Amino acid sequence: MKILVIGSGGREHSICWKFSQSHKVKKVFCAGTNDGISNVAQLVDIDICDFEKLAEFAKRNKIDFTFVGPEIPLSLGIVDYFESKGLKIVGPCKEAAKLEASKIYSKQFMEKYGIPTAKYNSFSYLDDALNFLDKIDKDKKLVVKADGLAAGKGVYICGDSVSAKNAVKQIMHEKILGDAGINVLIEEFICGEELSYLIFTDGKHYSMMPAAQDHKRINDNDEGPNTGGMGAYAPAPLASKSLNKKVEENILKKVMTGLQKENLDYRGILYVGVIVSGGEPYVLEFNCRFGDPETQAVLPLLESDLVDICQAILDRNLDKIKISWKKGFSVCVVLASGGYPDAYRSGFEIKGLEDIKEALIFLAGTKIKDAKLFTNGGRVLGITALDDDIKSAVDKVYSQVALIDFENMHYRKDIAAKALKNKTEDL
Ligand code: GLY
Repeated sequence: MKILVIGSGGREHSICWKFSQSHKVKKVFCAGTNDGISNVAQLVDIDICDFEKLAEFAKRNKIDFTFVGPEIPLSLGIVDYFESKGLKIVGPCKEAAKLEASKIYSKQFMEKYGIPTAKYNSFSYLDDALNFLDKIDKDKKLVVKADGLAAGKGVYICGDSVSAKNAVKQIMHEKILGDAGINVLIEEFICGEELSYLIFTDGKHYSMMPAAQDHKRINDNDEGPNTGGMGAYAPAPLASKSLNKKVEENILKKVMTGLQKENLDYRGILYVGVIVSGGEPYVLEFNCRFGDPETQAVLPLLESDLVDICQAILDRNLDKIKISWKKGFSVCVVLASGGYPDAYRSGFEIKGLEDIKEALIFLAGTKIKDAKLFTNGGRVLGITALDDDIKSAVDKVYSQVALIDFENMHYRKDIAAKALKNKTEDL
């Protein structure tokens, strides 16, 4: 088989790696710009939003199916386009991808199908949002969100209504997020710990992956600005059997009902961002694709062939296959360019990768020059180690990270520290 993967970050490197492990796969192609992926896939120099050229490529190269990594092409309708050309593609249709592309649409979906989430109000005009904030308790903690896709920058946690007003002004008046901030949501703040529940789904059936926990802030102890994610581990001990059951009953089954009632063709990955408060799961967000870096932690645990899973998704018979996972735990640490998520410098040689013997390397922002690898992005690479228990996986991953060096390298030293605090006996 020949498979085309759209996107070329660390997430897509792990997806290409997993496909390349399948004995059914002859060749993986990857549309994107990260040279480091070339150890498992042939890079294709086509813009990930140029659907016409991508579809032409898929036809010309007799691609069996295409797999979409990032949200932007999904939100722009790559699945609808490919299908209109008779090409197989894994991912939700444009309308279903609104579950991620519009936070207001997503909240309305949750309300309609009784899915637990924070109370919210949405606004299209700055004055209406400010008047609303004038009328509420000024010490109330709030969350301000841009409605549209904002590359992880659209969520503001505000300690009081004054900072909420500032956030609203930045989004709606200064337009710092562009069109993503035409509409905003103001939500109540729910205090708790976050989990990423990822599922495979054919729109009717679903299969849960081991729940992961991301580390969104740049620095240890969840300090500093938000990033795309600085590390992840799975399965998270917080995701106990009883919590997973609640997630299934209160969230996933209702999502499936909603998708069918709304007639949404959703064949792909759904990422349910959950916050656990008082032992109850509430949905923070839906993403219509694999998470980054959750995927780099989760896919190495997948024992089954990802090709079989994708075929079952495409054939709408996901219920007919058994998906197996390895026992044990996986921890992924992201190595970033110093300065990220703000301005950073690139072009530094990455040294020490050849010494990594006990972990997987997923490259995210890299360039090859004269047979050497250089940094070329904010998140440069992720290192994933597996072991029987979390403590051993953490020790192993950091022993491998210590072998790598590039100028201005930054990484968190506390990935999975929360897991060591949470109980594991209910797994
Ligand atoms: N790790 C967060 C995300 O993929 O959206």
